[in-house]
Amino acid sequence: MEKGKKQIVMSGIRPTGFLHLGNYFGALRNYVRMQDEYECYFMVADLHSLTTHPDTKELKGHVHRVLAENIASGLDPEKAALFCQSHVRETSELYLYLNMLAYKGELEKTPTFKDKVRLQPDNVNAGLLTYPVLMAADILLHRAALVPVGKDQEQHLEIARTYATRFNHRYGDVFPGPQAFNFGQALVKVPSLDGEGKMSKSENQNATLYLADSDDVIRKKVKKAKSDSGPTEPNSVKPDYIENLFLLMSLVCEKDVIEKFESDYNNCTIQYGKLKEQLGEDMVKFIAPIREKAESIRTNEKYLNEVMEKGAEKARKSANATMEQVRKHMGLVY
Ligand code: TRP
Repeated sequence: MEKGKKQIVMSGIRPTGFLHLGNYFGALRNYVRMQDEYECYFMVADLHSLTTHPDTKELKGHVHRVLAENIASGLDPEKAALFCQSHVRETSELYLYLNMLAYKGELEKTPTFKDKVRLQPDNVNAGLLTYPVLMAADILLHRAALVPVGKDQEQHLEIARTYATRFNHRYGDVFPGPQAFNFGQALVKVPSLDGEGKMSKSENQNATLYLADSDDVIRKKVKKAKSDSGPTEPNSVKPDYIENLFLLMSLVCEKDVIEKFESDYNNCTIQYGKLKEQLGEDMVKFIAPIREKAESIRTNEKYLNEVMEKGAEKARKSANATMEQVRKHMGLVY
């Protein structure tokens, strides 16, 4: 790496749903920290969403929402390049070249492909098969070294690394091998309120807190969170779903509040009604300002267009520099 040059970070988020607390603590909060130390490219993956959502009626609204929620959560368009995938046409060119290095058998074995085939047997399109090729193009286009992604994307990242190596081997060194990357310790997995799994974009919506939820909805969802009648023995081990409530508290409540409930738990005087009331209020305090900010950004189309254009310009500049190298190394310069 050249001295003084920042390492390049790239990631994408599909515009297929509302952002929730899991996205915030699992991903977004890390992006916000990265933008000060790295050269960051954060993209709304609208093209990827076409593989599963061919109907584009709602796409614009979703793209605007995701951008607004990202900015409201602390991403700064002056620091990171915030852009939309389809605004960087060079992606499609690199995608095409990488397709020649991608083998059908390999792609068919990808677990996410198999899942999608099961989920949408009537629309097993080639875009679905080559989803990881497009993702590799997104990453390699900026010669990114670091890719902050969740566990579910690690296989895709490995495929991107394979194509980088294959390209370099066949045509000469252009691409660094991108690595999964997360700031600090392990990612926070935000448990869902029903004690089953994590918060999710599409499943168990009543047990997931969205950044767009109203104060009342937040209070209601937290109130319904799974609990029981409390421990009968001092210093008992907490069941999972109670452990989850404490974990959620650790994200948004003051330390002394948590300590009080811990000690109530340990001496068997805990009242889960009170705990959930407190958690609900602290969740409202945490989410409401983000929701309000996101809402004012989301409805300001002029501002959003400026952000997307500025981000795309930065992304295109980096993409162009890479594509010049790619064409030259491939011998496509006549
Ligand atoms: N496939 C990713 C997801 O579903 C989104 C994505 C698209 C992405 N392109 C990317 C992530 C490039 C990291 C880098 O979450």
